[in-house]
Amino acid sequence: MINMVFLGPPGAGKGTQSERIVNQYKIVQISTGDILRAAVREGTKLGKLAKQYMDEGKLVTDDIIIGIVRDRLAEPDCTDGFILDGFPRTIPQAEALEKMLSEDLDKEITHIVSLEVPDEFILERLTGRRSCKSCGRAYHVKYNPPKSDNCECGGEIIHRDDDREETINNRLEVYHNQTSTLKSFYEKSGNLYVLDGVGDPDAIFERVQDILTK
Ligand code: AP5
Repeated sequence: MINMVFLGPPGAGKGTQSERIVNQYKIVQISTGDILRAAVREGTKLGKLAKQYMDEGKLVTDDIIIGIVRDRLAEPDCTDGFILDGFPRTIPQAEALEKMLSEDLDKEITHIVSLEVPDEFILERLTGRRSCKSCGRAYHVKYNPPKSDNCECGGEIIHRDDDREETINNRLEVYHNQTSTLKSFYEKSGNLYVLDGVGDPDAIFERVQDILTK
């Protein structure tokens, strides 16, 4: 069973690696960023609220995010395993996750993988990223260009609003101030794996697989 938490700065490659993990291990990816972006697209109350935070590169409030994840983890497709991509991002979110898994859902986290990429790589990765508006798949103008104007799923390929230089700097600051401390939080668990996220994505996936077979 793989119930994984994927940590790492914005643009570390969590989405890129999650796609490979989902294909290989047939588990579900729960990306809080994708859930929020879908709500923004649909113009829901949540979407309108979240958009302000996302456009500024700030975190959406813990209570909103925790509620979303609790509901999603209770869905039947999570029974065979899941990747939490982009959650938790704060200590209160990590504490809420532990509580909901043990008290409500009778599950536990098996792997916490922190994908490490220095800041100097992040700007190029995110300013060059292009994303599918429908399925969220990430491309890169230089490292992984789309084969045509549209995504393989047929969706429109866009430049995410929060992938502009100023917002990227805010997101990195938020990561260093609030999210990177989660590594200390998880150190005591014995399930934390720190992984070098620089290099060829397929080579990184081999390192991910080494961890997931442990
Ligand atoms: P979210 O969508 O979670 O964004 P993020 O964590 O900032 O991560 P990204 O999706 O930007 O990057 P990634 O690591 O998946 O990288 P990718 O694989 O695409 O969150 C967005 C916003 O939502 C937040 O700012 C916040 O407002 C809100 N939010 C979400 N969750 C929240 C929470 N829990 N609490 C509060 N608020 C929350 O790769 C990036 C690029 O690099 C791509 O172009 C890719 O092709 C390329 N690439 C990937 N791997 C490599 C490689 N090895 N070498 C070269 N290029 C590579």
